[in-house]
Amino acid sequence: MVQEQIEVLFDADRIASRVTALGQEIARGEPSDLLIVVILKGSFVFAGDLIRAIEAAGTSARVDFMTLSSYGSKTESSGNVRVVHDLSEDVEGQTVLIVDDILESGRTIAHACDLLRKRKAADIKTCLLLDKPEKRLMDIEADYLGFEIGDIFVVGYGLDFANKYRGLPYIGSIRAS
Ligand code: IMP
Ligand code: MG
Repeated sequence: MVQEQIEVLFDADRIASRVTALGQEIARGEPSDLLIVVILKGSFVFAGDLIRAIEAAGTSARVDFMTLSSYGSKTESSGNVRVVHDLSEDVEGQTVLIVDDILESGRTIAHACDLLRKRKAADIKTCLLLDKPEKRLMDIEADYLGFEIGDIFVVGYGLDFANKYRGLPYIGSIRAS
């Protein structure tokens, strides 16, 4: 049987203080009529904490959700981004902040930005919990970023391996042995 070992990279306290700081940065940098577009599933825990941090810093953003998929159950991106579940809000003329878990090749975020641009969003910014710059294939960077990491596979705090480990309170790197 395959055993997975997880090594803690960012514990709950470290995540909480970074998310509080991000909320303050966003509240300072973005307008009060901001629409947050949460990319599911991996960012649902991060987005829940981030939205409360933004609110605590004085900005009451609106929220909508979109499920995008580029991974199967493996640890390599397929390169094919699919809209599994679409937004319910009209984004035309809106200032939008896309919130996602990880910027890797950049395909997921590039796809989301293209989609919102086609729907005539007035301004599109991005907020990512994690960035793996070594894996980038597209010319795209996060406007707001939690942490930079190397080329490792991570789980916890909403992130999964084969839809497992999303409930871990920390972010850890996983190795199959
Ligand atoms: P990209 O489209 O290559 O930038 O991949 C980004 C997406 O792949 C993220 O939104 C995650 O859902 C997923 N992903 C990338 N790296 C990891 C990881 O280390 N753990 C869990 N999911 C990951
Ligand atoms: Mg994702």
